[in-house]
Amino acid sequence: MLKPDAIQRSIAFELLSRFERRGLRFTALRLLKVDRAMAEKHYAVHKGKFFYDDLVKVITASPVVAAVVEGPNAIAVVRSMVGSTRPQEATEGSIRGDYALVGLRNLVHASDAPETAATEIKLWFPDGVVEYTRDIDRWTSEDKAPS
Ligand code: CMP
Repeated sequence: MLKPDAIQRSIAFELLSRFERRGLRFTALRLLKVDRAMAEKHYAVHKGKFFYDDLVKVITASPVVAAVVEGPNAIAVVRSMVGSTRPQEATEGSIRGDYALVGLRNLVHASDAPETAATEIKLWFPDGVVEYTRDIDRWTSEDKAPS
């Protein structure tokens, strides 16, 4: 998910293009304004933490872009592209290392495990995603060479 700061800073598509360029396949994309109920569901695991109220405030302040990407090792690849939660620890070359300065304005949220991804996809895309493969996916998969 591209958080409100990505849209406010006019770098949403610049950031999305990094994932596309890496080779990941977009299977869902949606611009939306997040209401409090959705924010509370999305950040349920953080309820009770000292930054929870700020998290909800930030994500409901302005539209976000929710996206689903698929590909080999997608979760690990996306998390490494996004970089450390604390931008001061994010390596250069990662999104947060290149664009972010503080934790609550860290531009992107990325699912941390297949189970979390499944829950978040259901929350943001209740009608499901667009399942397809591209011809190029044969060339970038690790299991067999194209025939
Ligand atoms: P995100 O990937 O959206 O998941 C939870 C968010 O909480 C995280 O990105 C940060 O924006 C924020 N966050 C996590 N830890 C802290 C912290 N210690 N202080 C402030 N914000 C935090």
